[in-house]
Amino acid sequence: MNPIHQQIINKQIEKSGIPEKWWGKTIQDIEVRPLFITGPVGVGKTYYMAAMLYAQWQRVVQEKQEWPVITWTGAPGLLFRLRSSFTPGALETEKQIIDHYTKVDWLYLDDLGADKPSDWVRASLYLIIDTLYQMGKNLVVSSNLSLSELSEIYDDRLTSRIMEMCRVKTMTGVDKRGRK
Ligand SMILES: Nc1ncnc2c1ncn2[C@@H]1O[C@H](COP(=O)(O)OP(=O)(O)OP(=O)(O)O)[C@@H](O)[C@H]1O
Ligand SMILES: [Mg+2]
Repeated sequence: MNPIHQQIINKQIEKSGIPEKWWGKTIQDIEVRPLFITGPVGVGKTYYMAAMLYAQWQRVVQEKQEWPVITWTGAPGLLFRLRSSFTPGALETEKQIIDHYTKVDWLYLDDLGADKPSDWVRASLYLIIDTLYQMGKNLVVSSNLSLSELSEIYDDRLTSRIMEMCRVKTMTGVDKRGRK
């Protein structure tokens, strides 16, 4: 690949917020589209999302597509930030966080459902997803839970929006982490 293109892709991958462990992961001929990826621990959901992010930037750069804003976050990290914003003397407001995750063209949200959110956090996450939904933005989510299990932690209004925004991809198999 053109080394300048490669540099741009790497820079954009880094800027998206994806942890370094996942930089440069690829899966051949991966389709880039809004997805809800569900499956048990260690089957490769995050890897798949990382490969999709990489493929997306590759295509943007090589095909000179319109430049998208793409943000990656782990749901536990996002929920922690939201929780922190509710404490006295917080460094950032809930509105700043919500703006950050909604002023995007694509949001990659890894590991949703790993937490037990408070009502406030749940409401903020709903606001983020609903804003993306209303604005016709793109969402890629991974979760150990199915959409119906997620409905029990969040609510039907959240999962119903995810269902409309994303195609469901169910990953199966064994935990790849054990194999070294
Ligand atoms: N297609 C792949 N090729 C090579 N390695 C892979 C692939 N998919 C997953 N792995 C490796 O297997 C391990 C588990 O993958 P990953 O973390 O993506 O699973 P996960 O489904 O997101 O798990 P969890 O539910 O715990 O978040 C990682 O070390 C990852 O690098
Ligand atoms: Mg994962």
